[in-house]
Amino acid sequence: MSAELVVKDLHVTVEGKEILKGLNLVVRQGETHALMGPNGSGKSTLAYALMGHPNYVVTGGDILLDGESILGLGPDERARRGLFLAFQYPTAIPGVSLANFLRSAVSSVRGYKERARADGNADLTIGAELMPMREFRKEMAEKMALLNMDPAFARRYLNDGFSGGEKKRAEILQMAMLMPRIAILDETDSGLDIDALRVVADGVNRLIGPQMGVLVITHYQRLLNYIKPQFVHIQLDGRIVTSGGPELALLLEEKGYDWVRAQYGEPALASGG
Ligand SMILES: Nc1ncnc2c1ncn2[C@@H]1O[C@H](COP(=O)(O)OP(=O)(O)OP(=O)(O)O)[C@@H](O)[C@H]1O
Ligand SMILES: [Mg+2]
Repeated sequence: MSAELVVKDLHVTVEGKEILKGLNLVVRQGETHALMGPNGSGKSTLAYALMGHPNYVVTGGDILLDGESILGLGPDERARRGLFLAFQYPTAIPGVSLANFLRSAVSSVRGYKERARADGNADLTIGAELMPMREFRKEMAEKMALLNMDPAFARRYLNDGFSGGEKKRAEILQMAMLMPRIAILDETDSGLDIDALRVVADGVNRLIGPQMGVLVITHYQRLLNYIKPQFVHIQLDGRIVTSGGPELALLLEEKGYDWVRAQYGEPALASGG
């Protein structure tokens, strides 16, 4: 069955403040969507809420994956069902190498842990819960090559001292390994130089296909020259206020957000809630 992510009248509160105010969006496997919107309009908040970050409290509406609400599920279970988020600001984890992190994530998402437990092996052998090392290394090497990443990178601690562009590549490597059904890329283009942008976009394009739907959050039309969306949405003040095709991104590039605010913004004196 092809995956479908449905966001229905979603309301999300962060630190007691309502950030998403009735957001609607549908992303299906095989589709490429771009989400644009001014700083602070709540794009990353949407991304975190979709993945189930505990600080982002859903106070209304629903998130459905394949017709089933995922609001009650933790981030790991959402990942197992095929959701993936590439972070705008990836966190460093000193002490955990990129390779170990990836092996653990892949093993969890592909169900190695459950199988080892079901077989009663989980505690017997170290590594029984993990994808076999040889298989994992082979796959990781292939995917690093796809992203023009130096293999030595895998031994470094996750994001520790990585440059901005290296962090973004590591996120896409993670996506390549996890093979999600629906991927959310939060400003994957920020901090990339022109060559890196092309490499990362090529990597993403190779993963996009009937098997993957993607929501690309970006400020710049430039990325959309490489990753071509069928749908472009504009988010303003916690809602998607208009949607269209690629021409919408070109219009934003040319005219900025003033016309969006004029047409869809809240009247300054709106009261109540
Ligand atoms: N953990 C938090 N604590 C307090 N406020 C938060 C938190 N996370 C988000 N916000 C607030 O929510 C609003 C939306 O932020 P968000 O990061 O979702 O915007 P964005 O559309 O992704 O912006 P940008 O384009 O700059 O990445 C902002 O006003 C932000 O300060
Ligand atoms: Mg953001």
